[in-house]
Amino acid sequence: MRSLSGTPIPTLVFDDRAELARALADEIEALVRRPTATVLGLATGSTPLDAYRELARRRREAGLSFARTTTFNLDEFVGLPAAHAQSFRRWTREHLFQHADFARTCFPDVEAADLEAAARAFEDAIRAAGGIDLQILGLGRNGHVAFNEPGSARDSRTRAVELHPWTREDAARDFGGLEHVPLRAVTMGVATILEARRLRVLALGSRKAAIVRETLRASEGPDVPSTFLRAHPDVRLLLDGEAAALL
Ligand code: GLP
Repeated sequence: MRSLSGTPIPTLVFDDRAELARALADEIEALVRRPTATVLGLATGSTPLDAYRELARRRREAGLSFARTTTFNLDEFVGLPAAHAQSFRRWTREHLFQHADFARTCFPDVEAADLEAAARAFEDAIRAAGGIDLQILGLGRNGHVAFNEPGSARDSRTRAVELHPWTREDAARDFGGLEHVPLRAVTMGVATILEARRLRVLALGSRKAAIVRETLRASEGPDVPSTFLRAHPDVRLLLDGEAAALL
């Protein structure tokens, strides 16, 4: 692992994905082992998968307990039932929750008749849990963070949003065609995310190299929502060599 100097977000480049996953799992393990309650913010997608597998392995092989840990997922597609093959609830259950012993796992209610009230309830639940200790984040190709698409404001909070065409295209294969991809999602807002005490932003592979560069170099603003992360006092970018190739 090497760290890059002079970047607006402290940036670590790992030799391979397994090393990155272990480093993130080490940091999470140190948090969940504390005698006090821990709150984790979870992302879905291919990027954090190895880290979740590593946590599940530590649970299975070393008995690491998450019994004092509550989780909040970043986002979910509007209207999708929890059992739907592409729901983030199902994905996170299959890849993490069913392999561990979390105290509580929370998602925005995307089936509520009143999505605004459900979004407020989600924010209230984060606050009541004491705020998020560590938020895991990925990056969309267009700079989205969670589902804060280009145009999202710095002070945005949990809300229902329209998905960007690139986001729906990226999801089309998993959904078996673009026409099956929901048009909307509920996402934590930029301000919600920036309130987490630590942000760990992951990017892997050459597909992410351009947006990693933009995240660090574009002028801060809603055109590239990931640029807002630079303002956080404890943010780190964790990359593999391919994602760091344009830096
Ligand atoms: C999705 C999620 C994000 C995720 C991003 C990247 O749209 N809403 O939270 O970080 O896309 O996904 P992947 O890691 O599969 O590239």
